[in-house]
Formats: sequence, C-alpha cells, structure tokens
Amino acid sequence: MELAQLGRWPGIEGRVALVTGASRGIGRATAQALALQGAAVVGTATTEPGAAAISERLGAVSPDARGLVLDVADPESIQALFATLSESKTPPTILVNNAGITRDNLFARMKPDEWDRVLATNLSSLYWVCKAAIRGMMRARWGRIVNIASVVGLTGNPGQVNYAAAKSGMIGFGKSLAKEVASRNITVNTVAPGFIETDMTREMSESQQEALKGQIPSRSLGAPQDVAAAVVYLASDAARYVTGETLNVNGGLLMS
Ligand SMILES: NC(=O)c1ccc[n+]([C@@H]2O[C@H](COP(=O)([O-])OP(=O)(O)OC[C@H]3O[C@@H](n4cnc5c(N)ncnc54)[C@H](OP(=O)(O)O)[C@@H]3O)[C@@H](O)[C@H]2O)c1
Repeated sequence: MELAQLGRWPGIEGRVALVTGASRGIGRATAQALALQGAAVVGTATTEPGAAAISERLGAVSPDARGLVLDVADPESIQALFATLSESKTPPTILVNNAGITRDNLFARMKPDEWDRVLATNLSSLYWVCKAAIRGMMRARWGRIVNIASVVGLTGNPGQVNYAAAKSGMIGFGKSLAKEVASRNITVNTVAPGFIETDMTREMSESQQEALKGQIPSRSLGAPQDVAAAVVYLASDAARYVTGETLNVNGGLLMS
C-alpha cells in the first residue's frame, strides 16, 4: 500500500505532529503518512545525521516538517526538545510515542541493564513525553496521543519479560490517561503491531521468520505502512470518539 493512496483524513492538516523514532521502520512510515496528511511533522532520531536525514526526507513532502535529535530514555533530552518546540511556538497536538528497543534474554540471564534500558525507552519515556506534551494539548482543547505497543504486551513472549512488561505497561498507561483527559477532547490510544518488517524483526533468522509466518493467519509479516495507516486513523477526527482503545495490527495473530 502506498501511503499517498490513503486520501486525506479529517482533522490532521495544519496540526503539529511529533513522532519519536522516525528515522527507521514504523516511525519513519508514520511520520511520512502524517506529513502526507498535511501535518507539520517533527520526527526524531537519536543522532544528528539521523535527524538531518528525516528533515530531508520529510521536507520533500512538507515544508514545515523537520527532524530533531531525541533520546527518549533521557528526561533532559525530552525537556530540551520541548524547549526547542516552544521557542518556535509549535507545541505538538498529535503525539506518536513510537521509539522503542528490545534487549532479549531469558529471564534467568537477563541483566539489570537489559531490564532498565527497555523499561526506560519503551515505558518511562511515555511519562516524560506525555507530561511535556499534554499542557499544549489542553490549551488547544484538542489532542491525539498514539502509543506504539506490541502484541507481545498482550500475549507475553519467552526471552522478552522486559519488553512485554513495558508494552503491557503502555496499554495500562494509555487507558488511565485516556480517562483523565477525555473531557478535554484529547484521546489516548494504543496500536499493538504484530510482526512488522523492520530492522527489529530483521534480527530474526530466516527459519525463525518462516516459523513465525506459519502462526500468522495472513501468512505474512506486516509492513510499516500498515501500522502508519492505523495511526493516521487514530490521529484524525474520524476517531474522535475512540479513546483508551488498543488497535491490533497483526494479520490475525491475536484477536481480542
Ligand atoms: N517491528 C515489529 O515487528 C514491531 C512489532 C511490535 C511493536 N513494535 C514497536 O514499534 C516501534 C517501532 O519499531 P520498529 O520495528 O520500527 O523499530 P526500529 O526499526 O528498530 O526503529 C526504532 C526507532 O526508535 C528509535 N530509537 C531507539 N532508541 C531510542 C531512544 N533511546 N530515543 C529515541 N529514539 C530511539 C530509533 O532511532 P535511531 O535510528 O536513531 O536509532 C528508530 O527510529 C517500537 O516501539 C517497537 O517496540 C515493532
């Protein structure tokens, strides 16, 4: 599916959208999709060259788009990013918390750093980024927060107690925040991708990938664009009455 074929969804054009981890994979496709919808997208990478590449890529779609550096595991980096955004008077009213990592290991062997790093990047980051963004959304009396969790947060997975705990935590975080801010016209939803073809899944061997496909009713891995399309829907006014929801994008791997 070409993202340009999605057509325009209501309510996104002219909004400022922040997409964390927009240099690769799902975040890259999501940033592109929101820029094609007419949002002024701020996409982040962990490095200056990564941010420059985002500026170049998104700049071809939207003159207001740009790439900035962010480490979501570092509260100071988050504060610095929002200071930059407030200097240019562009607080985001669409926020996609996409940045994430895995550090897989069986529980008996899992090192404290593997636990801490995964929880800080995937879960604690939501506390800091949403806290920095929510005030601007409240002032605008409109906001969309979309958190990218994982099917693993719903099913568990051996070797991923850290990742599954973080992704599960994101779902509880999203439901609770959704209840707090619904009256302000701010929705908070979660997208739970199954297995999507990105650098994250390319780490699997070919035989692992084939075995995985056998378990997926659609018999294929998803594309980053499949997740981006779900985010576009949730960010739009078409989803104004949908909040606290978890949307599975998984080819039928798990249905809830
Ligand atoms: N791929 C899947 O099958 C799958 C399935 C379910 C859920 N997910 C979730 O979807 C999200 C995106 O996954 P992906 O597969 O697209 O991953 P990916 O291709 O590995 O890309 C990860 C992105 O996150 C950024 N990132 C990593 N650590 C960061 C940090 N500390 N601060 C800020 N940004 C950071 C990376 O930036 P740099 O390029 O600068 O490193 C990159 O843009 C993740 O939350 C992941 O858990 C993925």
